[in-house]
Amino acid sequence: MMDFIDKTFIITGASAGIGKALALKLASQGAKLVLAARNQDALEKIADACIQSGTQALSVPTDVTKPEDCCHLIEQTVKYFGSIDGLVNNAGISMSVRFEEVKDLTLFERIMQVNYLGSVYCTYYALPYLKTSKGLLVAISSLTGKTGIPTRSGYAASKHAMQGFFDSLRIELRGTGVDVLVVSPGFVATDIRNRILGADGQPMVTGLPKGQKDIMSIEECTEQIFRAMQERKRELVMTSQGRLGHWLKLIAPDLLDRIIYRKFLSKLD
Ligand SMILES: NC(=O)c1ccc[n+]([C@@H]2O[C@H](COP(=O)([O-])OP(=O)(O)OC[C@H]3O[C@@H](n4cnc5c(N)ncnc54)[C@H](OP(=O)(O)O)[C@@H]3O)[C@@H](O)[C@H]2O)c1
Repeated sequence: MMDFIDKTFIITGASAGIGKALALKLASQGAKLVLAARNQDALEKIADACIQSGTQALSVPTDVTKPEDCCHLIEQTVKYFGSIDGLVNNAGISMSVRFEEVKDLTLFERIMQVNYLGSVYCTYYALPYLKTSKGLLVAISSLTGKTGIPTRSGYAASKHAMQGFFDSLRIELRGTGVDVLVVSPGFVATDIRNRILGADGQPMVTGLPKGQKDIMSIEECTEQIFRAMQERKRELVMTSQGRLGHWLKLIAPDLLDRIIYRKFLSKLD
């Protein structure tokens, strides 16, 4: 079991949603927090809330698509706290448009840069310190990193890339004491769908797919991530439907495609 007291954790995408909630949870458990995202005002408010729960917190404005920002994030953490016990790669953006309707192809680059390359850069600079502390690497992926989802092709590609990267790294790190946890949430009640990229590559407000019932609260999602971190698990696949889908993909992939089609596309047709 991992003890969080006085351990230093970096969370990217900590200005909102799951990252913000996880920061507050870890702070309540005595962890020292380093909060990274682009929105400095939001980060500072969350850092203040962490400090009020009796721990230390630092906000470092960071655009994870820039390797120099990710390097600076790690340098500031080590300068301020002296070590790194965990890195949570959580910063992410999404999309909602059928591939053939996309008008701005840079949408695919931007999603890859934030979700996948942002995780690669932060992990690269943090790894020497995580090896020293025998720390924990966390990747907030998605069920969309396990199977394809219509209208999310670029997002699914970025999350499959994360899964492949962190699965490979886990094997490379065998025997070093560094653990790698890949988290795959389903639908979570954050504002990610108010920033989702549309056909023209611009953010739009979509809300959940029509008739979507299985949406998890941020609190439940954060609690599950916290427990998986505490147990230093290798995988956390959320929801029973998500776990069933994972197995169906192996034994009846066409059936899974039909179920996903009915759930997503038939409502758009
Ligand atoms: N919500 C869901 O249903 C769901 C489901 C499965 C997986 N996930 C994954 O969970 C993670 C968190 O999602 P969320 O729902 O909490 O989303 P959210 O509320 O939209 O928060 C996204 C966070 O990412 C940050 N971010 C975006 N671009 C960034 C960049 N270039 N550099 C640094 N930070 C950046 C945002 O901060 P700034 O704008 O301040 O930079 C924000 O803090 C994502 O990786 C997402 O793919 C979410």
